[in-house]
Amino acid sequence: MDPIAANKDQKQHTLKQDTYEKTSYFPAFFDTFTLLILHLSQNKDIIILGIESSCDDTSAAVIKNGEILSNSITSQLIHEKYGGVVPELASRAHQQNIIPVVSSALKQANIQTDQLSAVSFTRGPGLLGSLLVGASFAKSMALSLEIPLIEVNHMMAHVLAHFIQKPAENRDTPSFPFICLTVSGGHTQLVLVRDHLKMEVIGETIDDAAGEAFDKSAKILGLSYPGGPLIDKFAKTGNSDRFKFSHPSVQGYNYSFSGLKTQFLYFIQKETQRDHEFVSKNLPDICASWQQHIIKVLLSKLKKAAKDRKINTIAIAGGVSANSGLRSELQQMSIKEGWTIFIPEFEYCTDNAAMIAMASHFKYLEGDFATLSTVPKARMPIESLS
Ligand code: KG4
Ligand code: ZN
Repeated sequence: MDPIAANKDQKQHTLKQDTYEKTSYFPAFFDTFTLLILHLSQNKDIIILGIESSCDDTSAAVIKNGEILSNSITSQLIHEKYGGVVPELASRAHQQNIIPVVSSALKQANIQTDQLSAVSFTRGPGLLGSLLVGASFAKSMALSLEIPLIEVNHMMAHVLAHFIQKPAENRDTPSFPFICLTVSGGHTQLVLVRDHLKMEVIGETIDDAAGEAFDKSAKILGLSYPGGPLIDKFAKTGNSDRFKFSHPSVQGYNYSFSGLKTQFLYFIQKETQRDHEFVSKNLPDICASWQQHIIKVLLSKLKKAAKDRKINTIAIAGGVSANSGLRSELQQMSIKEGWTIFIPEFEYCTDNAAMIAMASHFKYLEGDFATLSTVPKARMPIESLS
């Protein structure tokens, strides 16, 4: 082992020992599992601070014994004028936002830092410069408070948003196994969920994500970023049967949105050549037809996967699951197909730390803790737990 690595290893070992030695019921020789059993047997509350910073939202949340006490989010408006997220600006804005956001989450939850059992953070996937801010902050907190650190996979957390409960809330949660269509700005996945922390991607986009298809087509229409919610808004008053688009042909349960985007661009260019006011005269119908087309593409593969796998518990997650057309089409399809469906609350569709805190609660129960040498990952498969 090289001297730097050996030094790091030694430091971590010392940290762990310090952590366990500080409190009388965490003796140095116990492993994390024993530590957990001891913690639970003493009827201690499990209070975790979760931090999300994978893209352009800085968020912090507090979860106590599996119930979300706070979920504080600051969105970065600076990207609007660039028509998309600028990674360097996102990273800088996270640095400015992280302390106020964490303070607000703790204050709202009425929790002091010395009450925390652990700190969790999004390890990936996401923008490296953004992830680094959350990861470094969480590590510093865990180190200074001498409490465990938990790393969370962002895509897994989107799925686990379905298990979020607020105090005194008794929401139904999906039973296992279920299939979750996770649709966000960076991902489009069909996930087979076997347990809270056991997931398998059975289909995904081979190029662009569904959120990108929404955002890029909105840009073609001259709408600001993020365009998904705006297409949704204009679609509400439009005729979804007015314009027709063709379906991409992709194998299995996979998706492709890059060809769709080009199809949309050519359609708008052709129509604008005929009438340069085509977009402004027909915006609601264009948005409604285009949105309907994306939804059809998304749901056709979901239907196929559910049928083949004989699974009738279905969920949607991620930013695009906020889309009103997708939500209502899924509801209609569930009646026809006999599915039990789960649609997240709006505040848990787009990026938020409540889902990170929820995921870390399950990981805490498993004694699945990270070390200080855990580095963020821009790409991180859902199947990987390390
Ligand atoms: O999950 P998310 O907040 O961030 C990522 O992890 O990517 O998803 C953001 C995406 C953006 O592409 C945004 O346009 C899209 O979700 N989105 C929507 C709606 N709300 C957010 N797309 C369609 N309709 C919406 N109502
Ligand atoms: Zn996300």
